[in-house]
Amino acid sequence: MADPTINLKILRYRPGQDKAPVYQTYQVPFRADWVVLDAMNWVKDHEDGTLAFRWSCRMGVCGSCGMNIDGTPALACHVALSDYKAGDTIVVDALGNFPIVRDLVVDITDFMHKLKEVKAWTIPVEEKSVEQGEYLQSPAELASFKQFSMCINCLLCYAACPVYGMDSTFIGPAAIALAHRYNQDSRDGANSERIDVIGDHEGIWSCTFVGECSVVCPKSVDPAAAIQRSKVSTTMDWFTSVLLPGGNR
Ligand code: SF4
Ligand code: FES
Repeated sequence: MADPTINLKILRYRPGQDKAPVYQTYQVPFRADWVVLDAMNWVKDHEDGTLAFRWSCRMGVCGSCGMNIDGTPALACHVALSDYKAGDTIVVDALGNFPIVRDLVVDITDFMHKLKEVKAWTIPVEEKSVEQGEYLQSPAELASFKQFSMCINCLLCYAACPVYGMDSTFIGPAAIALAHRYNQDSRDGANSERIDVIGDHEGIWSCTFVGECSVVCPKSVDPAAAIQRSKVSTTMDWFTSVLLPGGNR
């Protein structure tokens, strides 16, 4: 009896060769212990070395293997072939809402700019020299933002977000979640600088709370919750600045 196989129907786009993206189907061995990424690497090794896609860790850490698998944004290293049966066809597209560079490789320049805009790094309340020692933080202070620090920049949330799909000026789920993460960090003092960005009309107020970002997130970051919490804290800040003389903004 022939060994069982499964089909990968993969979107191809080769600049200079394809006028528009086209599907190409590959038959690969069906192995119950493989994930979709393994099957794609088999194609690359045995069938078609020109197939382009990003990956690195194979364990849901690097965030680079995001693609649409059967219409849902997912990490190719997370989707098991055992969820299918021999003879099935798995449809693999490039991550939605981003321009395609080649095949399954998308251009994420827009997101990189947004990370910079929201200042997704710690800006200390007070600069300390090395001699003055480390910035200390209690376990409770860490717990207040830890969930939002688990983001691996895989961009599945952007691919799932209808607001970003319609208007790419929206800062978007992961960048806002990261802004919230640093705003909650007791070592950080740049809350007002980030609020100026995420409180703008392209920021938190554009979110209509569809919530798909949190559904597809492989690290349970819950960017939808971060956006809602940012709405609350931004509103509180605004009230404080209006009602209290010398308010905190
Ligand atoms: S918030 Fe979740 S889905 Fe979005 S980039 Fe971060 S890890 Fe990926
Ligand atoms: S290969 Fe790193 S997250 Fe999938």
